[in-house]
Amino acid sequence: MRTSKYPLVSRARSCLLAACLSAAAHGAPDAPPLVKLERPVPAWLATAVCYQIYPQSFADTNGDGIGDLRGIIAKLDYVKSLGVDAIWLNPIYDSPFGDAGYDVRDYKRVASRYGTNADAKLLFAEAHKRGIRVVVDLVAGHTSVEHPWFKDSCRQNRPAKPDFYIWSPPDSNNGDFVAGPGPRDGKYLKNFFPFQPALNYGYGRPNPGRPWEKLPSDPNCVAVREAMRDVMKFWLDQGCDGFRVDMAASLIKNDDGKALTALWQDYRTWLKRYKPEAVLVSEWSNPSKAIPAGFDIDFLIHFESPAYRLLMNPVLNRENANHSFFSVDGTGDITAFLAEYLPQYEKTKTLGFISLPTGNHDFSRPRFQGREIPDLKVVYAMLLTMPGVPFIYYGDEIGMRNLKGWPDKEGAMWRGSCRSPMQWSADANAGFSTASADKLYLPLDPDPKRPNVADEVRDPDSLLHFTRQLIALRHKHPSLGSLGGFKPLYARKNTYPFVYLRSGGPENFLIAVNPSHAATECEVPELDGAKRVASSGAETNGTNLKMGPASYAIYRTQATR
Ligand code: GLC
Ligand code: CA
Repeated sequence: MRTSKYPLVSRARSCLLAACLSAAAHGAPDAPPLVKLERPVPAWLATAVCYQIYPQSFADTNGDGIGDLRGIIAKLDYVKSLGVDAIWLNPIYDSPFGDAGYDVRDYKRVASRYGTNADAKLLFAEAHKRGIRVVVDLVAGHTSVEHPWFKDSCRQNRPAKPDFYIWSPPDSNNGDFVAGPGPRDGKYLKNFFPFQPALNYGYGRPNPGRPWEKLPSDPNCVAVREAMRDVMKFWLDQGCDGFRVDMAASLIKNDDGKALTALWQDYRTWLKRYKPEAVLVSEWSNPSKAIPAGFDIDFLIHFESPAYRLLMNPVLNRENANHSFFSVDGTGDITAFLAEYLPQYEKTKTLGFISLPTGNHDFSRPRFQGREIPDLKVVYAMLLTMPGVPFIYYGDEIGMRNLKGWPDKEGAMWRGSCRSPMQWSADANAGFSTASADKLYLPLDPDPKRPNVADEVRDPDSLLHFTRQLIALRHKHPSLGSLGGFKPLYARKNTYPFVYLRSGGPENFLIAVNPSHAATECEVPELDGAKRVASSGAETNGTNLKMGPASYAIYRTQATR
């Protein structure tokens, strides 16, 4: 039961807070206002937090060891209890599963291991009943070699219908082209793994010496574009609420940005007419390109910007790679992150949202590199109070571990480490499945102390409750939401903590995080008169802020009028 207007505050402290409510609090005179959007975005994004579900590892209802849609439906009340607004589902389509479903064989059919199309429809409807939206993965850039479009493209004497793929002569010498399986004599362009042939949306600047490089206006490329629009329409009609577009920047080849922007603008215009509340999310990792091109949200992750690495450093499980701000050894540099983040934020904030996710199915989880539960609280205190739309990867809310050297299942490579089954309880298979342990999609974390949902529900101090409370706080206060103003207050090179202001609503918030295991302190003039909402390991004395190892604090300051 909630006892406080400020859900992060214990009962005793909330009384104290109530007593202080009328006391004069000092404002932050140059606090940025709420951001005014220059183009329509779905209203629900203003305070949204999303939850990513990797379907094969979430909940298994038929005992085959693989998660399924019925399992997700059965856990929707749990998802609701987190307070999240939307789910992003990794691919659920028919596939040979060479890349965990990112090799689609039939875009319009749910893979039998996950259930049926009727189950997907039911999932959308059940989620909607609970006020949760469902964003599905759109693997737009490539198919599986087993897709009928590709099989057709491999025929020798093709009837006069559009060719969906890019073929170069058999003797061409470019590593991105792969010898076709026959009978067609030639090499096709791959997009990721060799069994993922690139769909042909065209080239921004085709080289006339390479006749296979077509302009996006070529009838073959137009046919591909329309076929993918038809896939989007199909899933919107089933009831989904938008798309997370896989490798969104990969669709147009050799582009200076113009053709790719034109392609996504075209899709956006159509989508927003077809279903105005639907959302477009990109895996592009360059918000300053993706958002103006038409996306509502872009993940600031690994491809084109080092920003996320400078914060979290999750990429490729490289234990000893460059230090990041969230390193417990305190060797990160918040100014390096901000130098990447702020220009992207400034360029995009009136058009859409940057997402700094807790992790995803391609990265190591945040419980990694020595970070334990108290450290994750510091990490989430920041990720869930930054501008943009936060995404929580399933299991991160309970602190599931990144697992070293996990099996390379379905093209996972190093990524098996973050794809292990969800830990629901202390029961057999952590409550994920009734299959025998050797039949599970991936092995569970063998740690006898592995965290699970049931235990954390019972523990008021758990990471699960903390995450819920941060989400609730964000929902309650527009300053903390996607559109709240953002201003670093204390950010020094190679120095901890990081202190910033979120502003624009009736109340402003000052957030301080020290992910380092070394204590630190600083002067923050804006702390004058601020009231504590939540903290661990932090103490103030006037404008002096003392922060212990792995500490955070959230303060409320009066908004300027
Ligand atoms: C994206 C997906 C990843 C997949 C790749 C190819 O990066 O997130 O899991 O392997 O695209 O589709
Ligand atoms: Ca199953």
